[in-house]
Amino acid sequence: MLKFVTICCLLGWAGWAVGQEIPPYIKQCRRSDPGLTDCLKEALQHLRPYLSSGIPEIKLPSVEPFVMDQLSLQLTGGPQGYRINLKNMEVFGASNFTVRSIKLADGSKPFETRLTIPRLTIHAKYTSSGVLIIIPASGSGDFDAVFDGVTADVKGLVSTNEKPTGMHLRVEKLDLNLSIKKPRLSVSKIFNNNRILTEATNLFLKENGHEVLRALQPQLQKKLSSEFTGIANQLLDNVPIHFFIVD
Ligand SMILES: *[C@@H]1O[C@H](CO)[C@@H](O)[C@H](O)[C@H]1NC(C)=O
Ligand SMILES: *[C@@H]1O[C@H](CO)[C@@H](O)[C@H](O)[C@H]1NC(C)=O
Repeated sequence: MLKFVTICCLLGWAGWAVGQEIPPYIKQCRRSDPGLTDCLKEALQHLRPYLSSGIPEIKLPSVEPFVMDQLSLQLTGGPQGYRINLKNMEVFGASNFTVRSIKLADGSKPFETRLTIPRLTIHAKYTSSGVLIIIPASGSGDFDAVFDGVTADVKGLVSTNEKPTGMHLRVEKLDLNLSIKKPRLSVSKIFNNNRILTEATNLFLKENGHEVLRALQPQLQKKLSSEFTGIANQLLDNVPIHFFIVD
């Protein structure tokens, strides 16, 4: 019995000792620091290269690219309405953010942060159907989007839970709004190399970039916020609060 207790506690101690080391992707802040908000901004920015490469120790995948399954856009109305489905979406540039502001959660109030990203690019496969102006627009090929000047406003609700490693935070709800200064959308490598359809589609995307973006945005925001929640929780689930903020 004594032996069992000794072994268990030695193992426990070893686990504790290893687990107490601050991992390199964490930049610690002090609660008493008058510049706590600035410290937290830096701590978030400190994570960027780690988000970009992924953190295998805690099974956090790389966000470059950030992979999303699919989105469906109805771009013109009517029975022959022009519709685009995007799949195998890869988003590049998400880890290249700058934290502009940060507000901690306070009681029932959510935490808030504003990030800017100079450029997000999306590469996807698309299929389209319906009629575009007067051209039957059934086709498939590559879809590319370049979003310059991206601002993301994020609001989130967090809960805390006690684990053997200490108190952990958990993101329960994340609300994300994107604003994009300059969207550029295009298609290429259309099936059968249909030049007229390629040109008509690109003309449409160029002239209606902001409308297409408006159709794309709610789904994109929803997908990004659920993906970000997953990433944040993967991190928070593995790292207790006292690693991020010490008294
Ligand atoms: C990251 O952003 C900086 C500007 O803030 C820019 O110069 C750089 O090219 C960007 N890198 C990537 C990979 O997007
Ligand atoms: C997003 O925009 C909606 C509508 O303008 C607003 O109610 C919501 O609070 C915004 N969310 C964030 C995270 O800014």
